[in-house]
Amino acid sequence: MKKPASVKKPTGKLGVLMPGMGAVATTFIAGTLLARRNLAKPFGSLTQMGTIRLGKRTENRTPLIKDFVPLAKMDDLVFGGWDLFHDDAYTAASKAEVLSPEHINKVKDELSAIKPMPAVFFPEYVKRLRGENVKTQTNKMELAEATRADIRGFKDKNKLDRAVAVWCGSTENHHEPVAVHQSLKSFEEGLRKSDPAISPSMIYAYACLMEDVPYANGAPNLTLETGALRELAHERQLPVCGKDFKTGQTLMKTIIAPGLRSRMLGINGWFSTNILGNRDGEVLDDPDSFRSKEVSKLGVLETILQPELHPDLYGKLYHKVRIEYYPPRGDQKEGWDNIDIFGWLGYPMQIKIDFLCRDSILAAPIVLDLVMLTDLSHRAGFSGVQEWLSFYFKSPMTAPGLYPENDLFIQSMKMKNLLRWLQGEELITHLGNEYYD
Ligand SMILES: NC(=O)c1ccc[n+]([C@@H]2O[C@H](COP(=O)([O-])OP(=O)(O)OC[C@H]3O[C@@H](n4cnc5c(N)ncnc54)[C@H](O)[C@@H]3O)[C@@H](O)[C@H]2O)c1
Repeated sequence: MKKPASVKKPTGKLGVLMPGMGAVATTFIAGTLLARRNLAKPFGSLTQMGTIRLGKRTENRTPLIKDFVPLAKMDDLVFGGWDLFHDDAYTAASKAEVLSPEHINKVKDELSAIKPMPAVFFPEYVKRLRGENVKTQTNKMELAEATRADIRGFKDKNKLDRAVAVWCGSTENHHEPVAVHQSLKSFEEGLRKSDPAISPSMIYAYACLMEDVPYANGAPNLTLETGALRELAHERQLPVCGKDFKTGQTLMKTIIAPGLRSRMLGINGWFSTNILGNRDGEVLDDPDSFRSKEVSKLGVLETILQPELHPDLYGKLYHKVRIEYYPPRGDQKEGWDNIDIFGWLGYPMQIKIDFLCRDSILAAPIVLDLVMLTDLSHRAGFSGVQEWLSFYFKSPMTAPGLYPENDLFIQSMKMKNLLRWLQGEELITHLGNEYYD
């Protein structure tokens, strides 16, 4: 990644396109509308509330991130997207039951005006859903062309120069990359032949990149982990990032595990189970969709604990993750963790975590930050995988062959150092020798 001579200023409006306008997307939109009218605060958003230390500890320079780097303003965001259901954002937010009617009614008019465009959908990729608002083309290249036309129409209608996309749709089936995904040439050929290995999310990502729209992947879908779409992002000089928003249980895991590892405390077992009752939970009740999530959730401990370096501490770790669909809970997930650890001379101890969280409340600020930071990347001229945005993902994308950094604190340091680097400030190493010279 080259340091740009300058970062283009965020002038005009910024489009936000979301394939999938369910609980997460509507909680994000409603929250942003409330925050920009000063009716609520965007808690959980680093771009809106976070600060960044610059220079030495004695300099007392700690601006807000949004005052330090040139970000778009919440006021400048214009929302759009696609969904299988006709519900406008007000109806979808009401059905999702994440935010109270008192909250969403304050922005009812703006939410009601946001109507999803017809989706690209193949039921074999999300078995638990059937769509009513679906594009009628059957050829996959024609579907990609129709999605591109949607994006151009959205930009024209709202007089936008720039837009970013964040996948907020359901989790697709687990599938592995095959020949058709390997290069852009084979992928475009596959689109023309409607190859079954091309999923809806790949068609959205292809259409977005072809229309100069950076793409962030909020689900564990394969989408951007393909040679073809990485090649396209490079060719068109667009940033991409993913995958799978890091919210409840995995957020906790990447906070706790680095602490245990840094104190050289051993772990024999980590059992995680969740109950949740929203539509995401229903989709994940299908074993093929759950498999995508399971792979994304299991990876984090391996790279944080590095059992190959510490076989005595983590070589026998048994890690299990379950998600149970339990409708009475709606979006208010409960995640339990039982962690079997051991200390000095091998004496066993246990840690129990019971996190009564709210899935979409944790995900919404991540969507906002990804919108802001992906747009910043675009204006800075960064292209391809944006590893510095790992902070937001359960299963961060990296260069091929490079293991991901899952430790939340390293991810945070990495992100802040990138912002310092971008703005010509000294990187912070935390060495601190200068205070004692
Ligand atoms: N909430 C969290 O904490 C969290 C964390 C990590 C990842 N995620 C992921 O974010 C995504 C959204 O979660 P949610 O709770 O909003 O789910 P949701 O079920 O409420 O919303 C998803 C929406 O996507 C739509 N959809 C599915 N396939 C589509 C397609 N091909 N085109 C357009 N629309 C499509 C569905 O109709 C639905 O309205 C899921 O994949 C979920 O796994 C959520």
